[in-house]
Amino acid sequence: MLNGKKVLFSGMQATGNLTLGNYLGALKNWVGLCDEYECFYSVVDMHSITVRQDPATLRKRARTLLMIYIAAGIDPEKNCLYYQSHVSGHAELAWILNCFTYMGELNRMTQFKDKSAKHADNINAGLFTYPVLMAADILLYQADVVPVGIDQMQHLELTRDIAQRFNGIYGDVFTIPEAYIGKVGAKIMSLQDPSRKMSKSDENPNASIYLMDDPDTIIRKCKRAVTDSEGQILYREEQPGIRNLIDIYSACTGKTPEEVVKEFDGKGYGDFKLAVGESVVSVLKPLQDRFADLEKNKDYIDQIIKEKDSQVEHMQELMIQRVDRVELLLKQLAKVLANNTNYATLISGPSYNQTKLKFIQLSKVEEHKLLVVVVVEGNIIRNSFVTIDEELSDEELLNLNILLNSSLNGLTIEEINLGVIAKMKEQAGSHRRVVDLVLNEVSEVIRS
Ligand code: TYM
Repeated sequence: MLNGKKVLFSGMQATGNLTLGNYLGALKNWVGLCDEYECFYSVVDMHSITVRQDPATLRKRARTLLMIYIAAGIDPEKNCLYYQSHVSGHAELAWILNCFTYMGELNRMTQFKDKSAKHADNINAGLFTYPVLMAADILLYQADVVPVGIDQMQHLELTRDIAQRFNGIYGDVFTIPEAYIGKVGAKIMSLQDPSRKMSKSDENPNASIYLMDDPDTIIRKCKRAVTDSEGQILYREEQPGIRNLIDIYSACTGKTPEEVVKEFDGKGYGDFKLAVGESVVSVLKPLQDRFADLEKNKDYIDQIIKEKDSQVEHMQELMIQRVDRVELLLKQLAKVLANNTNYATLISGPSYNQTKLKFIQLSKVEEHKLLVVVVVEGNIIRNSFVTIDEELSDEELLNLNILLNSSLNGLTIEEINLGVIAKMKEQAGSHRRVVDLVLNEVSEVIRS
């Protein structure tokens, strides 16, 4: 919460020309949310350098993007609009979060696979860890809500996983964000290949409508949109081209797909495509006019950039301080790991095995490797790794942690006998083997 409101964060890359997909899937939904949320909209220019950029062009694009935010109706008085690269906290937090993200998770990201196929000569580490910087953007402001198109859902899920993992280890540091997906327009497809999303980087200019396209170009592109030979305007999977045009028309006019189907019942594709083009023009024209006005007002934009930088700088300082406190914990843990042959030095009293076991913490360090930390009276008395032959989801790991702690917490180490262990194994169901390994670690403690 910030100023009594939930926090919202979103951003767009300052790469290429914005398309109708960016507008209908994200930007259009951002307008007006500031009454309900404290909104941060960033020009994510650091994400843009994962592919090669000419510095002057990137600067110009970043400024254009900020102006498009305003031209689309996002009031800079009521929303925080700023450049990601002006706030160092994004990169700082990204580094910390990198250490809580697994290579396997990043390898699964579809956008990484697509982009590395497209830029085979430049598959850099930034492209790989791109989603972690995105997670940092969101978590830096403790965002509750993130309005995005469907293509960003996978990144948002990963953000949630990273935040949950971090919180699972260090307590409630991050707010777990929710996606906000618009009812229509969340996935606008290419006009030339309706099986692919409309994208800024498409080489075929007819595949995308750009926000600054003039009315004739918009109408021409809609008329040339690839459809089918069915001859009926129906909203169904088998007609992806027509379905996409219905989505566009729905998002531009506010009508539901069913209403659109009814409106064009018995009409031909030509009439429909023209109507779609006109609906897009009527949505983009006011944005283009406002943009032209803003272009004349250089001082106004300069002033917004300056003011917002200092506002956002303050916010991120607060957040980084919070994570830094957690960093201290990490340092302590690292020290403990380095000294892990010498547990005795960490124990305050000589007879720890008569005291109550406080907790056992299992955390995943790799897909098949768990860190087991055993804590007695606030001291870590054992931490070691166990290798497991099955893959545990975060949820399963959480359940195991709960199971272990609810069974063992409160018992003295001597009280953990065969009966208790057998009962736990029974409760652990399909993960008996993991429990076995963990309890072996605990019995090491008992023996020592
Ligand atoms: P980007 O710049 O590719 O896209 C910006 C927004 O536009 C949406 N979008 C679409 N929606 C519907 N149909 C389409 N064809 C379409 N194409 C794009 C995207 O879903 C997105 O909401 N990684 C992000 C930028 C980012 C970000 C963040 C977003 C960086 N940090 C933190 C939210 C929160 C990206 O590349 O979006």
